[in-house]
Amino acid sequence: MERQPEALNWRYAVKKFDPQRTLEADKLEGLKRAFNLTATSYGLQPIQMVVIRHKALQEQLVAHSYGQRQVADASHVLVFCIEKAIDSAYIEAYFNRVREVRGTSDTILDPFRRELQERFRGKPAEEVRTWATHQAYLAMGNLLTFCAYERIDSCPMEGFDPAAYNRILGLGDRGLTAVLVMPVGYRAADDVFSGFKKVRRELERTVWTIEDN
Ligand SMILES: Cc1cc2nc3c(=O)[nH]c(=O)nc-3n(C[C@H](O)[C@H](O)[C@H](O)COP(=O)(O)O)c2cc1C
Repeated sequence: MERQPEALNWRYAVKKFDPQRTLEADKLEGLKRAFNLTATSYGLQPIQMVVIRHKALQEQLVAHSYGQRQVADASHVLVFCIEKAIDSAYIEAYFNRVREVRGTSDTILDPFRRELQERFRGKPAEEVRTWATHQAYLAMGNLLTFCAYERIDSCPMEGFDPAAYNRILGLGDRGLTAVLVMPVGYRAADDVFSGFKKVRRELERTVWTIEDN
């Protein structure tokens, strides 16, 4: 592991992508796997990611992204979505998956299954939505780091209109809603932001230590 960490200094929120460059298939595959491997609360994965590689659609999305050209020029656009309904059937499907993958018996799974079902039944929808959104942020953070170490350029984006994305991508029909966007690809040679120094609070102001001597 680089101690600096060099890769995280290399990455920055790209403002101008090189529209001529396309992500290699193995890098794209890595991105998908890294998304799916993201740790989530209870392991429930209340998130999905749409991978867009469609130039006309990408151009259309610019108007719904506060005019940010990154969504048009990037090789691919990742849209992080949350599942709108974490209901009894969803939780049941999760436990079926655990049984399928690990062969865990119902005797072991049942108490945990009952507890989760109970916990989610009592939660207001807004609270579940906030919880799911946290998981999407975690996934995006994971991918930002993955991209940095794979030398894939990216830009994390909250600056877009989720309702418009939902409509254009037909997310509602899939029970999803968009919460974050992340164009990925390669920086343009003339993106002036690539040369800017990182602006961060002094390390002593953001990290402190408690130790016993
Ligand atoms: C959740 C989140 C949302 C962001 N939204 C946007 C955005 O819509 N457009 C943009 O150009 N940058 C966006 N950024 C990038 C930040 O402005 C950038 O990460 C920050 O200024 C630090 O700079 P650096 O990432 O280049 O080191 C966002 C970053 C995060 C983490």
